[in-house]
Amino acid sequence: MKLFIDTANIDEIKEATKLGLIDGITTNPTLIAREGKEFMQIVKEICEIIDGPISLEAVSTKSKDMIKEAQGLAKIHSNVVVKIPMTREGLIATRQLAMEGIHVNMTLVFSPTQALLAAKTGAAYVSPFIGRLDDISHCGMDLVEQILTIYDNYDFDTEIIVASIRNPLHVLEAALIGADIATVPFKVIEQLIKHPLTDIGVERFLKDWEKVENK
Ligand code: E4P
Repeated sequence: MKLFIDTANIDEIKEATKLGLIDGITTNPTLIAREGKEFMQIVKEICEIIDGPISLEAVSTKSKDMIKEAQGLAKIHSNVVVKIPMTREGLIATRQLAMEGIHVNMTLVFSPTQALLAAKTGAAYVSPFIGRLDDISHCGMDLVEQILTIYDNYDFDTEIIVASIRNPLHVLEAALIGADIATVPFKVIEQLIKHPLTDIGVERFLKDWEKVENK
């Protein structure tokens, strides 16, 4: 399973990439706004650090404007993937962008049939938001499972990015189901590393090592 980081914070991106595990990145307007910096400045820095797909979101609402915006974003760097929302206008834009060879990450997907349409229009990635479904008492991971079945049934190449991840269990479930990608906030990446028994084990070994003579 590929691991993307879901953030626009440069310190987090730098720290996470040190692990050598980050395959790509997803951002969204909320994450960008949180940084209080210029959009292009953030994007430039991300492109210098991340060697893999970089999802940047288009904020236009009409297909014509989405296409124009996406073309502009795609020009920034060859790794740029344009996030387009799963709307009627978004589907029209995605079809056109796919024909132009621009990679689209169809975002804000909450149903398996939305994911089917996204794949049919030629989206390179689809992002089911599982945490937001869990928040309203719908099992987000059921959605991922259904999308996988549909994509397997028809051999769609669209890759599934499990998004809106809130905790390590979400990552575990995504991996068990066989999702292509999980996009994970920095905090959760740190949680994935940690286990109290590992810490206790390291401490005990170091203490015992002190007792060894003639090291
Ligand atoms: C993914 O592409 C989105 O940026 C993100 O996962 C949304 O997560 P949230 O529901 O925690 O805002």
